[in-house]
Amino acid sequence: MVVVPEEMTIDPDRSTAIFRIFQEALTNAARHAGATIVEATLESRNGTVCLEVRDNGRGITKEEVSRPMSLGILGMRERARWWGGEVRIEGTPGSGTVVTATLPSGNEERLHAQYPPGG
Ligand SMILES: Nc1ncnc2c1ncn2[C@@H]1O[C@H](COP(=O)(O)OP(=O)(O)O)[C@@H](O)[C@H]1O
Ligand SMILES: [Mg+2]
Repeated sequence: MVVVPEEMTIDPDRSTAIFRIFQEALTNAARHAGATIVEATLESRNGTVCLEVRDNGRGITKEEVSRPMSLGILGMRERARWWGGEVRIEGTPGSGTVVTATLPSGNEERLHAQYPPGG
């Protein structure tokens, strides 16, 4: 797990959303992928928090990504959308799956308050 920057401030509600998405992506990798490696990156920059979870398993199919019964995936999407974000899921047959969740961090105003332009 890589976190950039190591000290980042995310409000508790968004943290919960990101944690739940992370949990689902990890559970899926463990249950469905047959992976030997799972890597995750959490990055905060330009007012956006980005979580990426990559496995080296069989690779999710397009059909599985968009299946109406894929409630775990729908749940990840809904959580991200609630915060104005989105989840992208890409599988490559035989080589793995990448789940990318992107959420506005909502920290911008605070950053501007700390570092006012021209001040
Ligand atoms: N990392 C993954 N690698 C391969 N297949 C996956 C992965 N994640 C999800 N899938 C496939 O997509 C389906 C839908 O996932 P999800 O919506 O989380 O439902 P569930 O985990 O309850 O089966 C899974 O049943 C599985 O077939
Ligand atoms: Mg699932």
